[in-house]
Amino acid sequence: MKTKNLVVLGSTGTIGINTLKIVRQYPQQFRVVGLTACNNFKLLEKQIREFKPQYVAIGKQGFDYLRRRFDRASVKILDVDKESGFIVSLKSVDIVVIGMRGGAALAPFLEAVRHGKTVAPANKEALVMAGPLLMRLARKHNAKIIPVDSEQSAIFQCLEGHRREDLKRVILTASGGALRKVPLTRFDRLSVNEILRHPRWKMGEKITVDSATLMNKGFEVIEAMRLFDLTVDQVQVVIHPEAIIHSMVEFKDGSIIAQMGITDMRLPIQYALTYPHRLGTGLASTDFYHLKQLTFGKPDFKRFPSLALALRVAREGGTFPSVLNAADEVAVDAFLNQKINFTGIYRIVERTVRRHRIVRDPDLKQILEADIWARAQATRLIEE
Ligand SMILES: NC(=O)c1ccc[n+]([C@@H]2O[C@H](COP(=O)([O-])OP(=O)(O)OC[C@H]3O[C@@H](n4cnc5c(N)ncnc54)[C@H](OP(=O)(O)O)[C@@H]3O)[C@@H](O)[C@H]2O)c1
Repeated sequence: MKTKNLVVLGSTGTIGINTLKIVRQYPQQFRVVGLTACNNFKLLEKQIREFKPQYVAIGKQGFDYLRRRFDRASVKILDVDKESGFIVSLKSVDIVVIGMRGGAALAPFLEAVRHGKTVAPANKEALVMAGPLLMRLARKHNAKIIPVDSEQSAIFQCLEGHRREDLKRVILTASGGALRKVPLTRFDRLSVNEILRHPRWKMGEKITVDSATLMNKGFEVIEAMRLFDLTVDQVQVVIHPEAIIHSMVEFKDGSIIAQMGITDMRLPIQYALTYPHRLGTGLASTDFYHLKQLTFGKPDFKRFPSLALALRVAREGGTFPSVLNAADEVAVDAFLNQKINFTGIYRIVERTVRRHRIVRDPDLKQILEADIWARAQATRLIEE
């Protein structure tokens, strides 16, 4: 495998840190060209010293701090909001790992596909907001998209070597979140700390809250529809608490292929980085004697109304997914800052979505307008 030049957007987050662990393990295979983060300039400083990227972008808080510490000839320190797009478009870049959270990833994602890069998105928000546009541009500019999100990576892997036209549907597994067995009557009083304890995956705060409401699964349904060109009826969500099967595909003859493995994000990240090759991870193998059984169930839409809402939005399409994503970002942030309670997240998002007037087949401007509108609406509802 020839050495690949990487940009890691969101290098200080869970996905970014795991990506850099792989680079540390395989220094011959990967060279880091660019890193970006928002606030965590102290960790970014350490990463610059270890991985020696040529370009780095950071939010306002860390900008002067990093500029004082590094001489311009060794690394260029840039503004993350304005110049992430420039970093991903550098000629030397082979793969862009999108490990930053939220809709802010849309702009650099667009730049990466416009420059024909291989993009490895863990971020799902950009695909939820503007999936059809991103996929159209990727096709036009020959940009390859190799998903990192574990469910999408599973589907991608299951489809390898098969004809796309033979695909009947995909089965998206969900561990069921932290609240699968918590009495519904307690939902109103669940604290931020209780929600942030996810039983299977160690992740950033936003996605952990989205996993508890199952909004994350709803986003993944939309993400799968965009990545694999499916209708909402071709994506079935199945609760699978052991989280060993990361997703499955069913072909038109009824044959089903599942992708399995232990729950560690280094697996799908590394697959995206080494594709079409595979390298060892040093991770333990799945022990089926210990596992004994795998179980499956139907999602409980009463307990998780956010999933039902996301499926309705997926069916509607247009600017609705952009509104869903923006309202959810605002509501989750308000919950994390203890401005609303846990069930308030759904109420805010649902009311915002209900008030939206759809634009069908939106262009980028209309998608961004819907995003801004939804953020303002959700903020107003929280303040009321
Ligand atoms: N973690 C997982 O296991 C997992 C699995 C599947 C998909 N994903 C998806 O991957 C993305 C990242 O998840 P995560 O768990 O790694 O999140 P995280 O731990 O919260 O990390 C987010 C990263 O994005 C940066 N960031 C945040 N806001 C930004 C902005 N406005 N502009 C530029 N950078 C920004 C953060 O910088 P600072 O640290 O400096 O604030 C950090 O580096 C999410 O979209 C999530 O849905 C994650």
